[in-house]
Amino acid sequence: MPNEKTAPLPSIRTKQPFMTDVAELRRRAREDIEKGAVTAAYRADRVVVVDLLNQALATELVCVLRYKRHQFMAEGIHADTVAAEFAEHAAQEQGHADLLAGRIVQLDGEPNFDPQGLAARSHAEYTRGTDVADMIRENLVAERVAIQSYSEMIHFIGDDDSTTRRLLEGILAVEEEHADDLKTLYASFGKHPDAEVSGVK
Ligand SMILES: [Fe+2]
Ligand SMILES: [Fe+2]
Repeated sequence: MPNEKTAPLPSIRTKQPFMTDVAELRRRAREDIEKGAVTAAYRADRVVVVDLLNQALATELVCVLRYKRHQFMAEGIHADTVAAEFAEHAAQEQGHADLLAGRIVQLDGEPNFDPQGLAARSHAEYTRGTDVADMIRENLVAERVAIQSYSEMIHFIGDDDSTTRRLLEGILAVEEEHADDLKTLYASFGKHPDAEVSGVK
């Protein structure tokens, strides 16, 4: 009888072994080999996940386009600082788009880069911005849209596809940093973000 110190943790003692028999695991891996990373253990609805990832991809691509426009159109005494921030965000959004496209392919889907309908597939909007303050505000709004949509996707996927969930969580963390950067930048222009972003002017 094990004493108090050597007894296994209750969770380990009561749980069933999680692994399938190794021979069975190897046999299954050889089946449907053309499915690549998608095995019988994949619990999510693959088609739905690919569709969600394509919506996120469209959102990132629209964000790249909006940030690039704003980067080159920023004018005024703070233009260099603001343009540099926009350029950095654009590059990071492009990186997110690449990660999403890569995961879509891993899930046997096809990343949708079709410019036709891109704006409609995107959750965030492409806004031109009238001046630098307006550009910052519009980007902050778009980041908040992205934060909300990634949060909902993560909640939806739950434990059914942990690789996609971790990917989305990593992107979400960067979107939160972007929103924070823009809030600081907006405040430096003497605007109160909470007041205007929410539409209360
Ligand atoms: Fe992004
Ligand atoms: Fe972002």
